[in-house]
Amino acid sequence: MENIAEKVVAITGASSGLGAETARHLVRAGAKVALGARRKDRLDALVDELGADNAMAFRVDVTKREELQGFVDAARDRFGRIDAMLHNAGLMPFAPLAENRHDEWDQCIDVNLKGVLYGLGAVLPVMQAQGAGQNIFVSSVAGHVCTPIGAVYSATKFGVRAIAESLRQEVKAWGGRVTVLSPGAVATELPQSIRNEEIAKAMADYYAEAAIPADAFARGVVYAVSQPEDVDINEILMRPTSQQM
Ligand SMILES: NC(=O)c1ccc[n+]([C@@H]2O[C@H](COP(=O)([O-])OP(=O)(O)OC[C@H]3O[C@@H](n4cnc5c(N)ncnc54)[C@H](OP(=O)(O)O)[C@@H]3O)[C@@H](O)[C@H]2O)c1
Repeated sequence: MENIAEKVVAITGASSGLGAETARHLVRAGAKVALGARRKDRLDALVDELGADNAMAFRVDVTKREELQGFVDAARDRFGRIDAMLHNAGLMPFAPLAENRHDEWDQCIDVNLKGVLYGLGAVLPVMQAQGAGQNIFVSSVAGHVCTPIGAVYSATKFGVRAIAESLRQEVKAWGGRVTVLSPGAVATELPQSIRNEEIAKAMADYYAEAAIPADAFARGVVYAVSQPEDVDINEILMRPTSQQM
């Protein structure tokens, strides 16, 4: 795959779903990957699968700024540079606002929004010093449309797009690039982050019927990373063909 061989890509939320599948695709295309998440056992298993020359695992909770700094430092120390970072860790605790699930609101904002900002804060100085770097964000169809049960999740995913668009304009000066992928239903563990039992069951049923495989997303990332330096893929919005909203 053009322009990917030997690139170093740091991935948060790499222990399952979209992050893990993207790591597989990138390594197949010749990249080196730094894998971050809390479930280190899962990351270690993925390193075994991908080969220790191609991948490293780092335990990181993205709600803790110093841990994200540690992840980025470890990736740069191990591979010498960071060409791209996939800010992917996230959860989707769907519930009506009237249920007042304050802890879930806090966690969703802390992971999906503040985790992204902390990751950026850690990696931008590295990329700026290199004079190049691609930040890849994961919004959602829910970052484009709102639904009754998705207020807080949508707020974070609209927010990710706002951060990305401001960043895109800020990093022009030194050649930085910014990509946002906004997937619809993709088969991962994401519905398991829903605590409202009725909604969790409905979403699990919907995902079982409609969700597309994670490699659909991974191919989007590979497409964006494979572009030459003078091409900046800014937005990819993708849905299962059968998905209405
Ligand atoms: N699947 C979809 O339908 C879909 C659609 C649109 C957007 N997305 C977005 O895609 C991204 C990836 O989700 P997924 O679908 O792949 O779901 P997933 O399989 O549940 O993966 C979520 C990942 O986020 C990590 N994570 C959660 N909290 C974390 C924390 N505090 N610190 C570090 N890592 C944390 C998890 O790792 P640990 O638990 O090991 O920490 C896991 O690797 C999310 O941002 C999600 O909003 C998914």
